[in-house]
Amino acid sequence: MSDQARGQRVTFEYAGATVEMVDAVTALAAARVNRVEMLRGASWPEPVRRVELSVSSEDGVQVFASEISTAADRFTTAKVRALVLGADPIGVLLSKRIEQGDQLAARLVDGVGNAAVAAYRKLGLDRVPQPAVQREPATVADAAVGLQATVTYDENGTLVRLRAEMPRDDVSPAHLQAFAGLTLQVVLEIAGPESLAGRRFTLSRESLPVEPITTSEVTLDQVGGLANIVAELRQIAVSFRHPEAMARWGARRPQGILMYGPPGTGKTMLSRALANEIGADFREVRTPEILDKWLGGSERNIKQIFRDARRYRVPTLILFDEFDSIISYVGSGGDAAGQAINAVAGIFKQEMNDLIEANPNVIVVATTNFPHRVDDSLIRSGRFDVKMSVPKPDDAGRAEIFRKMIRGLISAHEAPGFTMFADDLDLAELGRVSFGMTGADIKEVLRRVQLAKAMQEAHSGGQAEPISQEELVASVTELRGPLPAA
Ligand SMILES: Nc1ncnc2c1ncn2[C@@H]1O[C@H](COP(=O)(O)OP(=O)(O)OP(=O)(O)O)[C@@H](O)[C@H]1O
Ligand SMILES: [Mg+2]
Repeated sequence: MSDQARGQRVTFEYAGATVEMVDAVTALAAARVNRVEMLRGASWPEPVRRVELSVSSEDGVQVFASEISTAADRFTTAKVRALVLGADPIGVLLSKRIEQGDQLAARLVDGVGNAAVAAYRKLGLDRVPQPAVQREPATVADAAVGLQATVTYDENGTLVRLRAEMPRDDVSPAHLQAFAGLTLQVVLEIAGPESLAGRRFTLSRESLPVEPITTSEVTLDQVGGLANIVAELRQIAVSFRHPEAMARWGARRPQGILMYGPPGTGKTMLSRALANEIGADFREVRTPEILDKWLGGSERNIKQIFRDARRYRVPTLILFDEFDSIISYVGSGGDAAGQAINAVAGIFKQEMNDLIEANPNVIVVATTNFPHRVDDSLIRSGRFDVKMSVPKPDDAGRAEIFRKMIRGLISAHEAPGFTMFADDLDLAELGRVSFGMTGADIKEVLRRVQLAKAMQEAHSGGQAEPISQEELVASVTELRGPLPAA
Protein backbone atom coordinates (compact mmCIF):
# COMPACT_ATOMS: atom_id res chain seq x y z
CA MET A 1 0.00 0.00 0.00
CA SER A 2 1.33 3.44 -0.81
CA ASP A 3 2.02 5.95 1.91
CA GLN A 4 -0.78 8.02 0.60
CA ALA A 5 -3.16 5.15 0.98
CA ARG A 6 -2.13 4.81 4.58
CA GLY A 7 -2.94 8.43 5.16
CA GLN A 8 -0.88 11.54 5.43
CA ARG A 9 1.85 11.39 8.03
CA VAL A 10 3.33 14.49 9.55
CA THR A 11 6.11 14.34 12.09
CA PHE A 12 6.99 17.13 14.44
CA GLU A 13 9.23 17.58 17.44
CA TYR A 14 8.23 18.87 20.79
CA ALA A 15 10.68 19.30 23.66
CA GLY A 16 12.81 16.48 22.34
CA ALA A 17 9.85 14.16 21.75
CA THR A 18 8.83 13.01 18.31
CA VAL A 19 5.16 13.23 17.51
CA GLU A 20 3.74 11.55 14.45
CA MET A 21 0.38 12.71 13.23
CA VAL A 22 -1.40 10.26 10.93
CA ASP A 23 -4.10 11.29 8.49
CA ALA A 24 -5.30 14.19 10.58
CA VAL A 25 -7.71 15.40 7.90
CA THR A 26 -9.68 12.18 8.07
CA ALA A 27 -9.56 12.08 11.83
CA LEU A 28 -10.92 15.60 12.09
CA ALA A 29 -13.67 14.79 9.63
CA ALA A 30 -14.56 11.72 11.64
CA ALA A 31 -14.64 13.80 14.78
CA ARG A 32 -17.55 15.70 13.34
CA VAL A 33 -19.55 12.55 13.68
CA ASN A 34 -18.08 10.87 16.72
CA ARG A 35 -15.64 11.58 19.47
CA VAL A 36 -12.21 10.45 18.32
CA GLU A 37 -9.43 9.39 20.66
CA MET A 38 -6.20 10.53 19.11
CA LEU A 39 -3.22 9.84 21.33
CA ARG A 40 -1.73 6.42 21.71
CA GLY A 41 1.24 4.19 22.22
CA ALA A 42 2.70 6.52 24.73
CA SER A 43 4.59 6.04 27.94
CA TRP A 44 4.71 9.06 30.17
CA PRO A 45 7.32 10.50 32.50
CA GLU A 46 6.66 10.30 36.25
CA PRO A 47 4.42 11.44 37.87
CA VAL A 48 2.22 11.48 34.77
CA ARG A 49 0.30 8.26 34.53
CA ARG A 50 -1.97 8.69 31.56
CA VAL A 51 -2.76 11.28 28.91
CA GLU A 52 -5.79 11.21 26.68
CA LEU A 53 -6.51 13.51 23.82
CA SER A 54 -9.75 13.57 21.91
CA VAL A 55 -11.53 15.58 19.27
CA SER A 56 -15.28 15.80 19.13
CA SER A 57 -18.07 17.99 17.86
CA GLU A 58 -20.57 20.08 19.70
CA ASP A 59 -23.06 22.38 18.13
CA GLY A 60 -20.95 23.73 15.32
CA VAL A 61 -17.64 23.72 17.10
CA GLN A 62 -14.88 21.20 17.13
CA VAL A 63 -13.71 20.49 20.66
CA PHE A 64 -10.16 19.46 21.46
CA ALA A 65 -9.90 17.98 24.93
CA SER A 66 -7.11 16.35 26.81
CA GLU A 67 -6.79 14.89 30.23
CA ILE A 68 -3.54 14.37 32.06
CA SER A 69 -3.68 12.20 35.14
CA THR A 70 -0.89 12.02 37.61
CA ALA A 71 0.00 10.01 40.64
CA ALA A 72 -1.97 11.20 43.61
CA ASP A 73 0.51 13.05 45.69
CA ARG A 74 0.61 16.52 47.09
CA PHE A 75 3.90 17.23 45.46
CA THR A 76 2.18 16.97 42.11
CA THR A 77 -0.67 19.08 43.32
CA ALA A 78 1.74 21.80 44.21
CA LYS A 79 3.39 21.61 40.82
CA VAL A 80 0.14 21.69 38.99
CA ARG A 81 -0.96 24.65 41.01
CA ALA A 82 2.30 26.39 40.29
CA LEU A 83 1.79 25.69 36.65
CA VAL A 84 -1.60 27.22 36.42
CA LEU A 85 -1.19 29.81 39.08
CA GLY A 86 2.29 31.07 38.60
CA ALA A 87 3.77 33.53 41.01
CA ASP A 88 2.40 36.23 38.80
CA PRO A 89 -0.18 35.87 36.08
CA ILE A 90 2.30 35.44 33.27
CA GLY A 91 4.11 32.86 35.27
CA VAL A 92 7.74 32.55 36.07
CA LEU A 93 7.73 29.49 33.89
CA LEU A 94 6.81 31.38 30.82
CA SER A 95 9.36 34.11 31.17
CA LYS A 96 11.99 31.51 31.91
CA ARG A 97 11.09 29.62 28.82
CA ILE A 98 11.15 32.67 26.63
CA GLU A 99 14.64 33.37 27.92
CA GLN A 100 15.57 29.86 26.92
CA GLY A 101 14.25 30.57 23.47
CA ASP A 102 11.21 28.35 23.73
CA GLN A 103 9.25 29.21 20.64
CA LEU A 104 5.93 28.10 21.91
CA ALA A 105 6.13 30.23 24.99
CA ALA A 106 7.32 33.16 22.95
CA ARG A 107 4.51 32.75 20.51
CA LEU A 108 2.17 32.61 23.39
CA VAL A 109 3.13 35.97 24.68
CA ASP A 110 3.81 37.75 21.43
CA GLY A 111 0.77 36.54 19.67
CA VAL A 112 -1.90 36.87 22.22
CA GLY A 113 -0.57 40.05 23.70
CA ASN A 114 -2.32 40.90 26.86
CA ALA A 115 -4.46 37.86 26.53
CA ALA A 116 -1.35 35.79 26.79
CA VAL A 117 -0.61 37.47 30.02
CA ALA A 118 -3.51 35.38 31.13
CA ALA A 119 -1.74 32.26 30.04
CA TYR A 120 -1.40 30.00 33.04
CA ARG A 121 -3.90 32.14 34.78
CA LYS A 122 -5.53 29.87 37.18
CA LEU A 123 -8.11 28.71 39.30
CA GLY A 124 -6.72 28.27 42.79
CA LEU A 125 -8.47 31.39 43.80
CA ASP A 126 -8.90 30.22 47.37
CA ARG A 127 -5.20 30.58 47.93
CA VAL A 128 -4.21 33.74 46.19
CA PRO A 129 -6.42 36.76 46.21
CA GLN A 130 -6.85 37.86 42.65
CA PRO A 131 -8.83 40.48 40.83
CA ALA A 132 -12.17 39.36 39.52
CA VAL A 133 -11.00 39.40 35.95
CA GLN A 134 -8.63 36.58 36.71
CA ARG A 135 -11.31 34.36 38.16
CA GLU A 136 -11.25 32.25 35.06
CA PRO A 137 -9.60 29.03 34.17
CA ALA A 138 -5.99 29.28 33.12
CA THR A 139 -5.32 29.68 29.45
CA VAL A 140 -2.58 28.34 27.29
CA ALA A 141 -2.42 29.35 23.67
CA ASP A 142 -0.66 28.74 20.45
CA ALA A 143 -0.94 32.14 18.86
CA ALA A 144 0.55 31.03 15.55
CA VAL A 145 -2.59 29.10 14.71
CA GLY A 146 -4.91 31.04 16.97
CA LEU A 147 -5.73 28.19 19.31
CA GLN A 148 -6.42 28.86 22.95
CA ALA A 149 -7.05 26.20 25.55
CA THR A 150 -8.42 26.50 29.03
CA VAL A 151 -6.68 24.54 31.73
CA THR A 152 -8.53 23.26 34.74
CA TYR A 153 -7.70 20.67 37.34
CA ASP A 154 -9.56 18.66 39.86
CA GLU A 155 -9.53 19.15 43.60
CA ASN A 156 -6.71 16.72 44.25
CA GLY A 157 -4.57 18.15 41.55
CA THR A 158 -4.20 14.72 40.01
CA LEU A 159 -6.19 15.46 36.91
CA VAL A 160 -5.47 18.34 34.58
CA ARG A 161 -7.81 19.07 31.72
CA LEU A 162 -7.25 21.14 28.62
CA ARG A 163 -10.04 22.19 26.36
CA ALA A 164 -10.10 24.27 23.20
CA GLU A 165 -12.85 25.04 20.75
CA MET A 166 -12.74 26.03 17.12
CA PRO A 167 -15.54 26.72 14.65
CA ARG A 168 -15.92 23.41 12.83
CA ASP A 169 -15.27 24.74 9.39
CA ASP A 170 -12.04 26.44 10.40
CA VAL A 171 -10.39 23.42 11.94
CA SER A 172 -7.24 22.14 10.31
CA PRO A 173 -4.51 19.64 11.21
CA ALA A 174 -2.41 22.59 12.37
CA HIS A 175 -4.88 23.07 15.22
CA LEU A 176 -4.62 19.44 16.23
CA GLN A 177 -0.86 19.73 16.17
CA ALA A 178 -1.01 22.92 18.24
CA PHE A 179 -3.35 21.35 20.77
CA ALA A 180 -1.08 18.32 21.12
CA GLY A 181 1.77 20.76 21.67
CA LEU A 182 -0.11 22.54 24.43
CA THR A 183 -0.93 19.24 26.08
CA LEU A 184 2.71 18.19 25.97
CA GLN A 185 3.67 21.59 27.33
CA VAL A 186 1.59 20.94 30.41
CA VAL A 187 3.05 17.45 30.75
CA LEU A 188 6.48 19.00 30.58
CA GLU A 189 5.64 21.48 33.29
CA ILE A 190 4.45 18.68 35.52
CA ALA A 191 7.22 16.19 34.86
CA GLY A 192 10.11 18.57 34.46
CA PRO A 193 12.45 19.67 31.70
CA GLU A 194 13.93 16.91 29.54
CA SER A 195 11.18 14.58 30.70
CA LEU A 196 9.85 14.20 27.17
CA ALA A 197 13.18 13.83 25.44
CA GLY A 198 13.45 10.77 23.24
CA ARG A 199 9.81 9.77 23.61
CA ARG A 200 7.53 9.01 20.67
CA PHE A 201 3.86 9.72 20.42
CA THR A 202 1.36 9.04 17.72
CA LEU A 203 -1.70 11.09 16.98
CA SER A 204 -4.05 8.93 15.02
CA ARG A 205 -7.54 7.82 15.06
CA GLU A 206 -8.50 4.54 16.60
CA SER A 207 -11.68 3.11 15.19
CA LEU A 208 -13.90 5.57 13.51
CA PRO A 209 -16.78 5.59 11.17
CA VAL A 210 -14.73 6.58 8.14
CA GLU A 211 -11.47 4.88 9.01
CA PRO A 212 -9.65 3.19 6.16
CA ILE A 213 -9.60 -0.41 7.28
CA THR A 214 -7.22 -3.06 6.10
CA THR A 215 -9.45 -5.44 4.28
CA SER A 216 -6.71 -7.85 3.37
CA GLU A 217 -8.31 -10.68 5.32
CA VAL A 218 -11.71 -10.45 3.71
CA THR A 219 -11.90 -11.64 0.12
CA LEU A 220 -14.68 -12.60 -2.23
CA ASP A 221 -13.33 -16.16 -2.11
CA GLN A 222 -14.42 -16.41 1.51
CA VAL A 223 -18.02 -15.64 0.69
CA GLY A 224 -20.16 -18.77 0.60
CA GLY A 225 -23.31 -19.43 -1.36
CA LEU A 226 -23.74 -16.15 -3.22
CA ALA A 227 -22.16 -17.07 -6.54
CA ASN A 228 -24.11 -14.59 -8.68
CA ILE A 229 -23.42 -11.68 -6.41
CA VAL A 230 -19.76 -12.53 -6.14
CA ALA A 231 -19.52 -12.76 -9.94
CA GLU A 232 -21.20 -9.39 -10.36
CA LEU A 233 -18.92 -7.76 -7.82
CA ARG A 234 -15.90 -9.13 -9.66
CA GLN A 235 -17.19 -7.46 -12.84
CA ILE A 236 -17.64 -4.17 -11.04
CA ALA A 237 -14.10 -4.43 -9.72
CA VAL A 238 -12.82 -4.94 -13.28
CA SER A 239 -14.71 -1.87 -14.50
CA PHE A 240 -13.30 0.15 -11.63
CA ARG A 241 -9.76 -0.92 -12.36
CA HIS A 242 -9.96 -0.03 -16.06
CA PRO A 243 -11.09 3.56 -16.31
CA GLU A 244 -9.33 3.96 -19.72
CA ALA A 245 -11.51 1.29 -21.31
CA MET A 246 -14.58 2.87 -19.76
CA ALA A 247 -13.60 6.29 -21.07
CA ARG A 248 -12.87 5.09 -24.59
CA TRP A 249 -16.34 3.68 -24.95
CA GLY A 250 -18.00 6.43 -23.04
CA ALA A 251 -19.14 3.78 -20.62
CA ARG A 252 -19.85 4.61 -17.04
CA ARG A 253 -19.05 2.06 -14.42
CA PRO A 254 -21.49 1.63 -11.55
CA GLN A 255 -20.96 4.36 -9.00
CA GLY A 256 -23.33 3.16 -6.35
CA ILE A 257 -24.38 -0.26 -5.15
CA LEU A 258 -27.29 -0.89 -2.84
CA MET A 259 -27.26 -4.22 -1.03
CA TYR A 260 -30.35 -5.26 0.80
CA GLY A 261 -31.33 -8.35 2.70
CA PRO A 262 -31.85 -9.83 6.14
CA PRO A 263 -29.32 -9.28 8.92
CA GLY A 264 -26.24 -11.45 8.90
CA THR A 265 -26.33 -12.46 5.25
CA GLY A 266 -22.95 -10.96 4.43
CA LYS A 267 -23.65 -7.46 3.10
CA THR A 268 -20.94 -5.75 5.10
CA MET A 269 -18.57 -8.61 4.38
CA LEU A 270 -19.26 -8.31 0.63
CA SER A 271 -18.51 -4.58 0.67
CA ARG A 272 -15.20 -5.17 2.38
CA ALA A 273 -14.36 -7.96 0.01
CA LEU A 274 -15.23 -5.72 -2.95
CA ALA A 275 -12.90 -3.01 -1.66
CA ASN A 276 -10.22 -5.63 -1.41
CA GLU A 277 -10.91 -6.95 -4.91
CA ILE A 278 -10.64 -3.42 -6.32
CA GLY A 279 -7.56 -2.69 -4.25
CA ALA A 280 -9.38 0.24 -2.67
CA ASP A 281 -9.33 1.73 0.77
CA PHE A 282 -12.44 0.89 2.72
CA ARG A 283 -14.21 3.62 4.62
CA GLU A 284 -17.26 2.84 6.63
CA VAL A 285 -19.82 5.43 7.58
CA ARG A 286 -22.22 4.13 10.13
CA THR A 287 -25.20 6.04 8.93
CA PRO A 288 -26.96 6.45 12.29
CA GLU A 289 -23.88 8.33 13.41
CA ILE A 290 -24.40 10.99 10.77
CA LEU A 291 -27.51 12.02 12.57
CA ASP A 292 -26.70 14.75 14.97
CA LYS A 293 -28.93 15.94 17.71
CA TRP A 294 -28.33 19.52 16.71
CA LEU A 295 -30.29 21.17 14.00
CA GLY A 296 -28.05 21.47 10.99
CA GLY A 297 -25.47 19.11 12.45
CA SER A 298 -26.59 16.16 10.36
CA GLU A 299 -26.45 18.19 7.17
CA ARG A 300 -22.98 19.37 7.95
CA ASN A 301 -21.90 15.82 8.71
CA ILE A 302 -23.11 14.41 5.44
CA LYS A 303 -21.71 17.35 3.48
CA GLN A 304 -18.38 16.86 5.13
CA ILE A 305 -18.32 13.19 4.28
CA PHE A 306 -18.89 13.97 0.61
CA ARG A 307 -16.47 16.88 0.67
CA ASP A 308 -13.84 14.43 1.89
CA ALA A 309 -14.93 11.85 -0.64
CA ARG A 310 -14.23 14.28 -3.46
CA ARG A 311 -10.67 14.59 -2.29
CA TYR A 312 -9.68 10.94 -1.97
CA ARG A 313 -6.69 10.46 -4.20
CA VAL A 314 -6.60 6.70 -3.87
CA PRO A 315 -9.34 4.31 -4.89
CA THR A 316 -11.80 4.28 -2.06
CA LEU A 317 -14.96 2.37 -1.32
CA ILE A 318 -17.30 4.23 0.99
CA LEU A 319 -19.81 2.06 2.79
CA PHE A 320 -22.96 3.63 4.18
CA ASP A 321 -24.00 0.88 6.54
CA GLU A 322 -27.57 0.75 7.84
CA PHE A 323 -28.44 3.20 5.13
CA ASP A 324 -32.16 3.10 5.87
CA SER A 325 -31.64 5.08 9.04
CA ILE A 326 -31.15 8.30 7.10
CA ILE A 327 -33.94 7.72 4.67
CA SER A 328 -36.51 5.73 6.51
CA TYR A 329 -38.42 8.83 7.47
CA VAL A 330 -38.45 10.38 4.05
CA GLY A 331 -41.80 11.91 3.34
CA SER A 332 -43.04 11.27 6.84
CA GLY A 333 -43.41 13.48 9.81
CA GLY A 334 -42.93 17.20 10.09
CA ASP A 335 -41.12 17.03 13.39
CA ALA A 336 -37.58 18.32 13.75
CA ALA A 337 -36.04 14.88 13.51
CA GLY A 338 -38.05 14.09 10.40
CA GLN A 339 -37.03 17.36 8.80
CA ALA A 340 -33.38 16.82 9.58
CA ILE A 341 -33.52 13.38 8.03
CA ASN A 342 -35.26 14.74 4.96
CA ALA A 343 -32.60 17.37 4.61
CA VAL A 344 -29.88 14.75 4.90
CA ALA A 345 -31.57 12.60 2.28
CA GLY A 346 -31.81 15.63 -0.02
CA ILE A 347 -28.13 16.39 0.35
CA PHE A 348 -27.29 12.75 -0.18
CA LYS A 349 -29.13 12.80 -3.52
CA GLN A 350 -27.42 15.94 -4.74
CA GLU A 351 -24.01 14.72 -3.70
CA MET A 352 -24.40 11.27 -5.22
CA ASN A 353 -25.40 12.87 -8.52
CA ASP A 354 -22.01 14.19 -9.33
CA LEU A 355 -19.65 12.43 -6.98
CA ILE A 356 -18.29 10.09 -9.59
CA GLU A 357 -17.70 12.90 -12.10
CA ALA A 358 -15.94 14.83 -9.38
CA ASN A 359 -13.88 11.88 -8.21
CA PRO A 360 -13.52 8.71 -10.26
CA ASN A 361 -11.60 7.13 -7.37
CA VAL A 362 -14.73 6.61 -5.34
CA ILE A 363 -17.39 3.94 -5.32
CA VAL A 364 -20.28 3.96 -2.87
CA VAL A 365 -22.00 0.98 -1.30
CA ALA A 366 -25.07 1.29 0.89
CA THR A 367 -26.60 -1.54 2.85
CA THR A 368 -29.99 -1.92 4.42
CA ASN A 369 -32.28 -4.52 5.91
CA PHE A 370 -35.33 -2.56 4.79
CA PRO A 371 -35.28 -1.87 1.04
CA HIS A 372 -38.94 -0.91 1.05
CA ARG A 373 -38.15 1.98 3.35
CA VAL A 374 -35.69 3.45 0.93
CA ASP A 375 -37.09 6.35 -1.00
CA ASP A 376 -37.09 5.50 -4.73
CA SER A 377 -35.59 8.79 -5.78
CA LEU A 378 -32.61 8.12 -3.56
CA ILE A 379 -31.77 4.92 -5.30
CA ARG A 380 -32.91 5.67 -8.82
CA SER A 381 -30.36 4.51 -11.34
CA GLY A 382 -27.58 6.98 -11.74
CA ARG A 383 -27.25 7.18 -8.01
CA PHE A 384 -27.31 3.52 -7.15
CA ASP A 385 -26.94 1.80 -10.47
CA VAL A 386 -26.79 -1.66 -9.00
CA LYS A 387 -29.26 -3.08 -6.57
CA MET A 388 -28.46 -6.45 -5.11
CA SER A 389 -30.61 -8.64 -3.01
CA VAL A 390 -28.49 -10.60 -0.56
CA PRO A 391 -30.76 -13.43 0.54
CA LYS A 392 -30.43 -16.00 3.25
CA PRO A 393 -28.46 -18.99 2.00
CA ASP A 394 -30.11 -22.25 0.92
CA ASP A 395 -28.90 -25.74 1.94
CA ALA A 396 -26.04 -25.74 -0.53
CA GLY A 397 -25.14 -22.15 0.38
CA ARG A 398 -24.94 -23.00 4.07
CA ALA A 399 -22.85 -26.09 3.36
CA GLU A 400 -20.46 -23.89 1.42
CA ILE A 401 -20.32 -21.30 4.18
CA PHE A 402 -19.49 -24.08 6.68
CA ARG A 403 -16.83 -25.38 4.34
CA LYS A 404 -15.19 -21.99 3.83
CA MET A 405 -15.29 -21.00 7.47
CA ILE A 406 -13.91 -24.34 8.62
CA ARG A 407 -11.19 -24.17 6.02
CA GLY A 408 -10.33 -20.68 7.25
CA LEU A 409 -10.15 -21.84 10.86
CA ILE A 410 -7.95 -24.78 9.94
CA SER A 411 -5.48 -22.64 8.07
CA ALA A 412 -5.43 -20.08 10.86
CA HIS A 413 -5.11 -22.43 13.83
CA GLU A 414 -4.06 -25.95 12.92
CA ALA A 415 -0.43 -26.70 13.57
CA PRO A 416 1.73 -29.82 13.66
CA GLY A 417 0.31 -31.98 16.44
CA PHE A 418 -2.92 -30.00 16.63
CA THR A 419 -5.97 -31.03 14.61
CA MET A 420 -8.96 -28.80 14.97
CA PHE A 421 -11.66 -30.74 13.10
CA ALA A 422 -12.30 -34.47 12.95
CA ASP A 423 -12.36 -36.38 9.66
CA ASP A 424 -16.02 -37.29 9.92
CA LEU A 425 -17.44 -33.91 8.88
CA ASP A 426 -20.47 -34.09 6.59
CA LEU A 427 -20.91 -30.59 5.19
CA ALA A 428 -24.08 -31.42 3.27
CA GLU A 429 -25.71 -32.55 6.48
CA LEU A 430 -24.57 -29.38 8.27
CA GLY A 431 -26.12 -27.38 5.43
CA ARG A 432 -29.40 -29.22 5.86
CA VAL A 433 -29.68 -29.10 9.64
CA SER A 434 -28.88 -25.40 9.75
CA PHE A 435 -31.92 -24.46 7.65
CA GLY A 436 -33.00 -20.85 8.08
CA MET A 437 -29.62 -19.75 9.40
CA THR A 438 -27.46 -17.02 7.94
CA GLY A 439 -23.70 -16.79 7.58
CA ALA A 440 -23.59 -14.82 10.81
CA ASP A 441 -25.45 -17.64 12.60
CA ILE A 442 -23.05 -20.23 11.24
CA LYS A 443 -20.14 -18.17 12.46
CA GLU A 444 -21.76 -18.21 15.90
CA VAL A 445 -22.28 -21.99 15.76
CA LEU A 446 -18.55 -22.39 15.17
CA ARG A 447 -17.59 -19.83 17.79
CA ARG A 448 -19.51 -21.74 20.43
CA VAL A 449 -17.89 -25.05 19.56
CA GLN A 450 -14.43 -23.47 19.57
CA LEU A 451 -15.10 -21.92 22.95
CA ALA A 452 -16.42 -25.19 24.39
CA LYS A 453 -13.28 -26.99 23.24
CA ALA A 454 -10.95 -24.36 24.60
CA MET A 455 -12.78 -24.38 27.95
CA GLN A 456 -12.71 -28.15 28.10
CA GLU A 457 -8.97 -28.05 27.60
CA ALA A 458 -8.53 -25.21 30.08
CA HIS A 459 -10.31 -27.24 32.76
CA SER A 460 -8.81 -30.65 32.08
CA GLY A 461 -5.29 -29.58 31.25
CA GLY A 462 -5.07 -32.22 28.53
CA GLN A 463 -5.65 -31.74 24.80
CA ALA A 464 -9.30 -31.98 23.75
CA GLU A 465 -10.44 -34.17 20.85
CA PRO A 466 -10.94 -32.48 17.44
CA ILE A 467 -14.37 -30.98 16.77
CA SER A 468 -16.70 -33.69 15.48
CA GLN A 469 -19.75 -33.68 13.25
CA GLU A 470 -21.88 -34.52 16.25
CA GLU A 471 -20.64 -31.52 18.19
CA LEU A 472 -21.29 -29.21 15.25
CA VAL A 473 -24.83 -30.52 14.82
CA ALA A 474 -25.40 -30.14 18.56
CA SER A 475 -24.21 -26.55 18.39
CA VAL A 476 -26.59 -25.82 15.52
CA THR A 477 -29.46 -27.28 17.52
CA GLU A 478 -28.49 -25.37 20.60
CA LEU A 479 -28.28 -22.05 18.79
CA ARG A 480 -31.62 -22.61 17.14
CA GLY A 481 -33.27 -23.39 20.46
CA PRO A 482 -35.96 -25.96 20.97
CA LEU A 483 -38.07 -26.56 17.89
CA PRO A 484 -41.75 -25.74 18.27
CA ALA A 485 -43.74 -28.88 19.06
CA ALA A 486 -45.20 -30.32 15.87
N1 LIG B 1 -22.36 -15.70 2.67
C1 LIG B 1 -21.45 -15.69 3.64
N2 LIG B 1 -20.29 -16.35 3.47
C2 LIG B 1 -19.37 -16.36 4.45
N3 LIG B 1 -19.51 -15.74 5.62
C3 LIG B 1 -20.63 -15.05 5.85
C4 LIG B 1 -21.65 -14.98 4.87
N4 LIG B 1 -22.65 -14.24 5.37
C5 LIG B 1 -22.28 -13.85 6.59
N5 LIG B 1 -21.06 -14.33 6.90
C6 LIG B 1 -20.35 -14.16 8.15
O1 LIG B 1 -21.17 -13.47 9.03
C7 LIG B 1 -20.56 -12.28 9.46
C8 LIG B 1 -21.58 -11.17 9.55
O2 LIG B 1 -22.05 -10.85 8.27
P1 LIG B 1 -22.25 -9.35 7.81
O3 LIG B 1 -21.89 -8.44 8.90
O4 LIG B 1 -21.57 -9.15 6.51
O5 LIG B 1 -23.81 -9.35 7.63
P2 LIG B 1 -24.73 -8.16 7.15
O6 LIG B 1 -25.53 -8.68 6.01
O7 LIG B 1 -23.94 -6.96 6.92
O8 LIG B 1 -25.68 -8.02 8.40
P3 LIG B 1 -26.49 -6.72 8.92
O9 LIG B 1 -27.59 -6.52 7.95
O10 LIG B 1 -26.97 -7.15 10.25
O11 LIG B 1 -25.51 -5.61 8.93
C9 LIG B 1 -19.50 -11.99 8.43
O12 LIG B 1 -18.42 -11.31 8.98
C10 LIG B 1 -19.10 -13.35 7.98
O13 LIG B 1 -18.14 -13.89 8.86
MG1 LIG C 1 -23.86 -5.14 7.98
